[in-house]
Amino acid sequence: MCGIVGILGTKPVADELVDALRRLEYRGYDSAGVATVENGHLERRRAEGKLKNLAARLNDEPLQGHAGIGHTRWATHGAPNERNAHPHMTDKVSVVHNGIIENFREIRDALRAEGAEFSSETDTEVVAHLITSEMRKGDGPVAATGRALKKLRGAFALAIIFAGHDDLMIGAREGSPLAVGHGEGEMYLGSDAIALAPFTSQITYLEEGDWAILHRGGAEFRDRAGNKVKRRSITSSASGFLVDKGNHKHFMLKEIHEQPEVISHTLTNYIDMTSGEVAFPDTGIDLAKIPRLTISACGTAYLAGMVAKYWLERYARVPVEIDVASEMRYREAPMPEGGVALFVSQSGETADTLAALRYAKAQGQRIFSVVNVRTSTIARESDVVLPTLAGPEIGVASTKAFTCQLATLACFALAIGRARGTITPELERELVQALTEVPRHMVGLLREEQQYEEMAPWLSKAKDVLYLGRGTAYPIAMEGALKLKEISYIHAEGYAAGEMKHGPIALIDENVPVVVVAPDDELFEKTVSNMQEVAARGGQIVLVSDANSDKVGCRVATHLSVPSVHPFAAPLVYALPMQLIAYHTATFMGTDVDQPRNLAKSVTVE
Ligand code: F6R
Repeated sequence: MCGIVGILGTKPVADELVDALRRLEYRGYDSAGVATVENGHLERRRAEGKLKNLAARLNDEPLQGHAGIGHTRWATHGAPNERNAHPHMTDKVSVVHNGIIENFREIRDALRAEGAEFSSETDTEVVAHLITSEMRKGDGPVAATGRALKKLRGAFALAIIFAGHDDLMIGAREGSPLAVGHGEGEMYLGSDAIALAPFTSQITYLEEGDWAILHRGGAEFRDRAGNKVKRRSITSSASGFLVDKGNHKHFMLKEIHEQPEVISHTLTNYIDMTSGEVAFPDTGIDLAKIPRLTISACGTAYLAGMVAKYWLERYARVPVEIDVASEMRYREAPMPEGGVALFVSQSGETADTLAALRYAKAQGQRIFSVVNVRTSTIARESDVVLPTLAGPEIGVASTKAFTCQLATLACFALAIGRARGTITPELERELVQALTEVPRHMVGLLREEQQYEEMAPWLSKAKDVLYLGRGTAYPIAMEGALKLKEISYIHAEGYAAGEMKHGPIALIDENVPVVVVAPDDELFEKTVSNMQEVAARGGQIVLVSDANSDKVGCRVATHLSVPSVHPFAAPLVYALPMQLIAYHTATFMGTDVDQPRNLAKSVTVE
């Protein structure tokens, strides 16, 4: 994940910016830069590679400004070179950014028509030009930023400084976290409290849609609509730790809320935003010639693999075999010559997954892995590693790692589809666009979190809960059931909606809540029929869907509405209601959601 730091200081800030960026090194990066306001002008230094290169640049050509912003960038749009490194700027504005500006091509074309000249391949640069364009119309920096923010679509965090304004810095948050630090006559911005720990422990976390106007004397906060709002500051405990809960009650909740950011980050690792196509690393393996793909994993990671099976078969037309690792390793399954086996694991240490990997290797399969911990055993024993960029996941129940696995696997399916010629360039761009919209939809969904809290007292009384879904919503339903049982200890099962009448329907009565995961897609009508069967038996339906209630045609106890999303990208967005139902039910019941009983984060025994 990229890192953001900003300082309104009382002496030259460049060195402090670099020090603060060092504390964000754990997020990973491949270029870095800082900009300061110096004698009314904006000046910047950037360097490819590690922070020591940037420090050397600053040593040769020091920056003297007392107001500045800094960034570590992990290459997303465009190569990891100096030209694409942040900050990006015009003569009036300098910007650093995390996340995705979804509509940057549209904005860039409009600004080019006005005469703006772009010097990088990044989406970030449009922000600098857009604010500049608003300022040229006569607005001051604050009004211009407010107008520009309204035009940006996506999930992002921004830190901005302005030529001629030595006592002004603006930060904005929409999907990617941003914290304001309060010092003695100094103010700070940081993508997390860890970056700000050496300066201050007094932190205000921006809420979604917030932007903050910082002067050395303090900060003023505005909401999405531009209204002045109050945001309380807290004392952060980040100084001693690399991970803290921010202003969330549990790591699990923090990790649920991090998803717009980490999904942006993971997606942009596999997508070229400029062309709108998948940009997959050269694996040295001819993806067009894969005769069959074997996927194996455990628990939630297995369910990510199950979603991938639907994507790979539909879009890449590759036959996929999938099994939980603890079964696959003992089945003595035959594997085709030249086949590829793919293993999915957050920790990269799960004993069963590792054993299945070794079995597949012995069968002559090329090994791909989707892992979150890149130094893990599974990563080390793989031919090709596809990292998920979820960052450390502390909550035992997997949340952000799961959706990052989905993001990676979706891009993988498109990369194979392209190699095999089973998707047209137009379809590829449509599906890539659908993926890039996911972080924004996640932000929208998280804004409606209250409905999950309100439902929790009722759901907490259930002894059994069924989850139903069709197509890719089926593994998502299974994930919902797994999440609920592992953290609330309520018995829950996920079924293919069509399977219900072959057995589970016998369980349905007015005491059994049935969570129906039903995106308004080509399978919706079929799922509605199954829902009507539940309703007819008095089952209490919790509908998770973007469909209008009038399309449902039966009584539902609760309709959790989800933003409308392209069916291809739906599993990523529908995973969040599964997590939120489980989280709020469990916290209402008072269980230890971060460390549920009997569970371990890394299962290194069979
Ligand atoms: C459930 C959960 C587990 C893990 C499983 C595999 O919330 O976290 O089911 O998904 O133990 O772990 P990894 O992904 O580390 O291989």
